[in-house]
Amino acid sequence: MTADFSLIRSSFAAVQPHGPQVTEYFYDHLFAHHPEVRPLFAAHLDEQRDRLWAALGALVANLENTETLTGMLQNLGRRHAGYGAVAAHYPAVGASLIASLRHFAGDEWTPAAEESWTAVYGVISNAMVAAGETAPS
Ligand code: HEM
Repeated sequence: MTADFSLIRSSFAAVQPHGPQVTEYFYDHLFAHHPEVRPLFAAHLDEQRDRLWAALGALVANLENTETLTGMLQNLGRRHAGYGAVAAHYPAVGASLIASLRHFAGDEWTPAAEESWTAVYGVISNAMVAAGETAPS
């Protein structure tokens, strides 16, 4: 994986001061580009808003703790299968996530940062999809 974890951390940190604007931008971007996923989120979007970013923060903090990371991703992936998330949704969410980071990270956003996020998101989503596929229905 061509991911530089220090770039992941510094770009993620640069986005944090923008607070709820980031999640708002993310969901607006996702639903504008992929309206087909909107109904999955209908019930509790307000509560849900910050959870994805909180979870990302926890994942970013544990990038080098393979065991913790694997456990988190398995649980997240299994729960997401229950929300109706399928493999095809993951690139859509990844594109909106990266667009949001790019928009708010300022000078911290570089081609190397984007490459690192793309690689890390690929690993995260593969693990979540794999866990979801083995989830009991
Ligand atoms: C890196 C990828 C992702 C992360 C870190 C993430 C994180 C989260 C977190 C933390 C929650 C709160 C509930 C829980 O912890 O189970 C959640 C809920 C949810 N996520 Fe994700 N998610 C990701 C990708 C996706 C994708 C690809 C989809 C598919 C469209 C999706 C759809 C949902 C839905 C539908 C909910 C429940 C919303 C509700 O309660 O109405 N997520 N996500």
